[in-house]
Amino acid sequence: MKKLILILSVFVVLVSCNKIENEYVVDESKRGLIVEKAMVVSARQEASKIGTDILKKGGNAFDAMAATQLALAVVYPFAGNIGGGGFMVYRKANGEIGALDFREKAPLAATKDMYLEEDGNIITYLDKKGNIIPKKSTLGALAVGVPGSVAGVFAVHERLGSLPIEDIITPVIDLANKGVVVTKKQEERIKKYQPYFRKVNNNTILFVKNWKENDTIKYPALAETLTRIMKNGRDEFYKGETAKRLVKFIQDNGGIITEEDLSRYEVKWRTPITFEYDDLKIISMSPPSSGGICLAQIMKMIEPYDLAAYGPNSLKAIQVITEAERRAYADRSFYLGDPDFVTVPGETLISNEYLKGRMTSFSFEKATLSSEVSHGSVQVIESNETTHYSIIDQFGNAISVTTTLNGGYGSKLYCTDLGFFLNNEMDDFSSKPGVPNMFGLIGAEANSIAPEKRMLSSMTPTIVERDGKLLMSVGTPGGSTIITSVLQTILNVHEYKMTMQEAVNAPRFHHQWLPDVIFFEPNSFPKELFVQLQSLGYKINEKTSRITAKVDGILVLENGKLEGGADRRGDDTALGF
Ligand code: DON
Repeated sequence: MKKLILILSVFVVLVSCNKIENEYVVDESKRGLIVEKAMVVSARQEASKIGTDILKKGGNAFDAMAATQLALAVVYPFAGNIGGGGFMVYRKANGEIGALDFREKAPLAATKDMYLEEDGNIITYLDKKGNIIPKKSTLGALAVGVPGSVAGVFAVHERLGSLPIEDIITPVIDLANKGVVVTKKQEERIKKYQPYFRKVNNNTILFVKNWKENDTIKYPALAETLTRIMKNGRDEFYKGETAKRLVKFIQDNGGIITEEDLSRYEVKWRTPITFEYDDLKIISMSPPSSGGICLAQIMKMIEPYDLAAYGPNSLKAIQVITEAERRAYADRSFYLGDPDFVTVPGETLISNEYLKGRMTSFSFEKATLSSEVSHGSVQVIESNETTHYSIIDQFGNAISVTTTLNGGYGSKLYCTDLGFFLNNEMDDFSSKPGVPNMFGLIGAEANSIAPEKRMLSSMTPTIVERDGKLLMSVGTPGGSTIITSVLQTILNVHEYKMTMQEAVNAPRFHHQWLPDVIFFEPNSFPKELFVQLQSLGYKINEKTSRITAKVDGILVLENGKLEGGADRRGDDTALGF
């Protein structure tokens, strides 16, 4: 039945792009939530509500960012966090743009080969049957990067916020004390991850209980941690009692993070990547995220082709987009890393001249082989979790934030004392050149581990302008598929005139150079399309649950109202007024 509904909804999405000789017309009946002035779209209704309430109180998008980030740490422990990090791209009502990097850092004691055996092989854990299970860079205390989220929240609030911090954090503390109702999807996730929780945590943690839909989980320890942070500010987490307790906990569990690591953590204000596509100006995240550069590369490589004439998810559109993705991800793996440690040739990589050259080997007659673009062979590994939220306030400020613990529930290491999960962001480094991380991404020297270095990310929080005016705030989780999912969402709105809600719901595909395969969302594309692609030399995979993006976005309509797009794939919710 579920399958039938999916197939039907795909059909509806495909035919609902009312196409009259390449002219698409928006189907107004397919809009998501429409509001007059202000909106928050996030992974959970409770977090969107806390953010919206802050806006109703007169707070701006930056106050709402602080509230929503912390609220997600309570209501969405799968990915929302204070034990992880993230990126924010913003556009103020006056057109000023900027970006904040609150990405995790490698601890001072980290070394390039810390996840390798003496013989150079990756260290893995073995299960009872001797099978290799997740690597040390993904599971347990050694996987944890120095968290940046609390510093991020305070940096945003101090520089750009307007309400007192108490007004922002108090509702989150109240929610943690009151508790959060378990959704069906959350019940399934907790069940799926329980073997890992048991393996990593010495004590029975909150999440080992068999929580069922409609149960209420209370978070008193997290409420206490947040109360201390509210009273003592950012330094409580990085230098205060919380820092001491956190470091002791991590070290007791075999980790290497020290008090010095926490006290030295700093966010970085960065210049976002900006570029043009048709009449759009795209503003996206700069390194240490690969998001902005890869998005720019792909969009500029596909810009000369008439995607509207090809049609959404048509053979030709998939070919052009796949070939551009292949080339961009090959560059990603070699050139991109933390710009404070390596020289990233960003300007060249997104220059028209360079990109024109990259596409000269493309032909509609035959797939390019990834081995012709570069070398390597990669196996596919299951994807995990991150979360995105978009906010536009009643003053016209917009933010786009993607934040993560990396894997679902991060390292699975849960600090019962302080009430939160710790990230496993260290896996985003390249532990060994040519060996894939959990997203199947490979890296080189530019993304090797070094003390205090930030690991390369794919997070792509993005803001789009048209004619100098705000058009969209968009982003998503999904590991390596983040960039290509943001891309497809923007194209769906711009090229195919889908509503924001249709654009985030539409079926997606993904190519990342290696493995040399196009991943398709299961049961969402016609089989004849696969036959055509295969005859041209493309490899297809629609079995692996590789497309895990849950895109959230806000579109500014011509009449100035806002439309929310909250991904059907999660519990995502748009709220506003
Ligand atoms: O920064 C990155 O690219 C990854 N740590 C993001 C992880 C992610 O999106 C997992 N969600 N599906």
